[in-house]
Formats: sequence, C-alpha cells, structure tokens
Amino acid sequence: MSAFQIAPSILSADFAKLGEECEAVIAAGADIIHFDVMDNHYVPNLTFGPMICSALRHYGITAPIDVHLMVSPVDTLISAFADAGATSISFHPEASQHVHRSLELIASHNCQSGLAINPATPLCAIENVLSQLDYVLLMSVNPGFGGQSFIPESLDKIRATRAMLNSYNENIKLYVDGGVTLDNVRAIADAGADTFIAGSAIFNGADYLSSISAIRSKLS
Ligand code: DX5
Ligand code: ZN
Repeated sequence: MSAFQIAPSILSADFAKLGEECEAVIAAGADIIHFDVMDNHYVPNLTFGPMICSALRHYGITAPIDVHLMVSPVDTLISAFADAGATSISFHPEASQHVHRSLELIASHNCQSGLAINPATPLCAIENVLSQLDYVLLMSVNPGFGGQSFIPESLDKIRATRAMLNSYNENIKLYVDGGVTLDNVRAIADAGADTFIAGSAIFNGADYLSSISAIRSKLS
C-alpha cells in the first residue's frame, strides 16, 4: 500500500445510491470511505447517522470507514458508530466535555482514534492527548459543507502539526480534510499530510477512476 491514502468524502456522493457510490470509488482506487456526520447543532448542516454506516456494511462495503463526527455531544454516537462498523472515528475537541474520556471510548471499541482540528483551533488541543491518537484530522475549511475552498494558511498548520506529531510518534497519521483538489494535493503532501479527504474533487467528476488516478499521480 502507498504511504499516501485517498479518502473520498461521501458527503458529495449521490445519496440515492450510496452503496454503489462507495463500491465505485473503492474500485477506482480509493483507500478509505470518509463518512461526514453532521447534526445541525455543532455544525449548521444535517447528514446521516449510524444506520447508514451499518447499511453500507450490510451492502458489502469492506473498505475502512472513517467516521468524522461533527456533532455534540459525541460519546453516544461513538459507541453507535463503532457498533455500526466504523474503522476509525474522529471528533472535534470543542464538542466533547471530556476529550480524554471520549478518546478512551473510541479505543475501547477497537476503532482508531482521531481528533478533528478546525482552522481556528490551536494545536495545543492535541498536545496532551498525543498518546491516545492514531491520527489527526486537520480541517482546511470550516466544517459543515462540501465544496469550499482550501484555506491557504492550512499549509503552515499542516507543517506544524506534522512536527508536533513527529516529536511524539512518527506513526500518528495526518489527514487533511476540505478543499483538496488536483491542484493543491501535492503541496498538501509536501507539507506533511499522508491521507487526503476529498469530496467534490472526486464525486463531482463523471469518472471516478480518472479523478482518483490523477490525484494518485500527483502523489507519486
Ligand atoms: C466538511 C467535511 C468534508 C468535506 C470534504 O465539513 O468534513 O469531508 O466536505 O469535501 P470537499 O472535498 O468538497 O471540501
Ligand atoms: Zn470530513
């Protein structure tokens, strides 16, 4: 497997045929299905819950499913998504009263644990929980909607995050989420990201194989 992973966000998929959409992007070379959960409370949008994740597993999706919780509170949904077949779960530290406890809860379900960091959230939010993290999901847009533009200052933050992670454990992964395109994916990789979450750049094109192969070729 390449050191770089591509994770299509199904926020931009056709919800009327979600199983087929997931199958198609995996067949086209994607590594992970990124599952954006929004509650119209922590973020001003509403998407899907654990029943949809479970339905994808029953449909036959065996690829890793990365659940990005943009909800508050988080703990009930952590357990529900673990039971529904999530492989990894991240949440926003502002959305949990007890971040350490919520990370422990994810690990107790044998899921990989991540913290999602907003553009305005300082990196000190991860500093005291590095030992609990399998990955950091750095947001390069404000959470809530697909199709936004990459915030340019995110490149410096990716570099700073990678440096902080390396000081503790080089194996902690760094996902970047929001506004990832064919034009900026190389710069994002050079700054230190290893996992690229892309919604509109993949699902808005007619041919997923071409879109994913083009992104992959920028990373080789
Ligand atoms: C935003 C989500 C994303 C995002 C990715 O709140 O976390 O995963 O929609 O979509 P694009 O690639 O369209 O920015
Ligand atoms: Zn996301």
